[in-house]
Amino acid sequence: MTDLTVYLTQDDVARALRSDVLTGLTATPKTLPPKWFYDARGSELFERITRLPEYYPTRAEREVLADRADEIATLTGAHTLVELGSGSSEKTRLLLDALRRNASLREIVALDVSDAALSASVAVLREAYAPATVHGVVGDFTRHLALLPGDVPRLVAFLGGTIGNLVPAERAKFLTALRDNLQVGEWLLLGTDLVKDPATLVAAYDDAQGVTAEFNRNVLHVLNRELSADFDTSSFAHVARWNEQEEWIEMHLRATRDMEVHIRELDLTVPFAAGEELHTEISAKFRPARVSAELAEAGFELAKWWTDRQGRFGVSLARAVA
Ligand code: SAH
Ligand code: AVI
Repeated sequence: MTDLTVYLTQDDVARALRSDVLTGLTATPKTLPPKWFYDARGSELFERITRLPEYYPTRAEREVLADRADEIATLTGAHTLVELGSGSSEKTRLLLDALRRNASLREIVALDVSDAALSASVAVLREAYAPATVHGVVGDFTRHLALLPGDVPRLVAFLGGTIGNLVPAERAKFLTALRDNLQVGEWLLLGTDLVKDPATLVAAYDDAQGVTAEFNRNVLHVLNRELSADFDTSSFAHVARWNEQEEWIEMHLRATRDMEVHIRELDLTVPFAAGEELHTEISAKFRPARVSAELAEAGFELAKWWTDRQGRFGVSLARAVA
């Protein structure tokens, strides 16, 4: 078993899951936070999503990183690369290779809520980047930013468009907390998916092979296993919708019949009416002005803005300012 630093114990996770499920499934409309997708199976399904023909964000972001990694390494001279929501850390290797070519890389911090994803990625990073120290941290990027290890200057990478899974108020809180825990002159590299035609966006979240549908339903498998619930997962249809006003994709699970779900660990019975939707994720899409405004509001100055050649995905390099 890979050696990991645990800021979120199994007990913390169990408590947070119970609290989120109790709150979310007794609310109207019903809702669950997206971080509960990512058990071992959910993390694997996400990796399959990144390889789907319809899911362009991973390929588009990788294109930018491949083109700009050396420039990022030279500009930042980072001694530590901190990755939040690191998952497989696959694209991150482009940055790590560049920091190593720049002879500045000393430490790597990979933080993720999913210990399954971390165990695999940290072992690979330790092997590939020795003698750099690799810290694998099981933690929540909305809660544990004050505890980040690493030699300054640090480059914090928040890739994949994961910031878009937070609603605007959560994003502002997250960016401010991150800024407060960095020193002036340290760096943030932020990946943001961009507003584009709705057909392309909806296809990316409703693929022909149904992998995203399985990823969406995985949260019900997590509740069945962790809370002894009895969701009939085949009675929930995957829904992905573009919300024009908010400029985000919404994922829901729609009940295909009337049913009662029992969540034994919470002593809770949850009624679903046929057609009722359980909201599971937003994935916000950005315009460049919004990205720089949200960064500035939190105390980051935009140093560079890049997109892939088709202009689908944006990557910002920003510096923490006084
Ligand atoms: N950065 C990778 C993975 C993106 S998937 C990429 O660009 O491909 C989102 C990742 O964030 C998952 O690995 C998930 O486990 C993690 N995650 C989601 N919510 C989190 C939270 N609140 N704290 C820490 N990690 C989180
Ligand atoms: C991790 N995150 C940025 C993904 C996204 O695109 O919002 C999660 C995802 N949901 C459905 N497909 C992928």
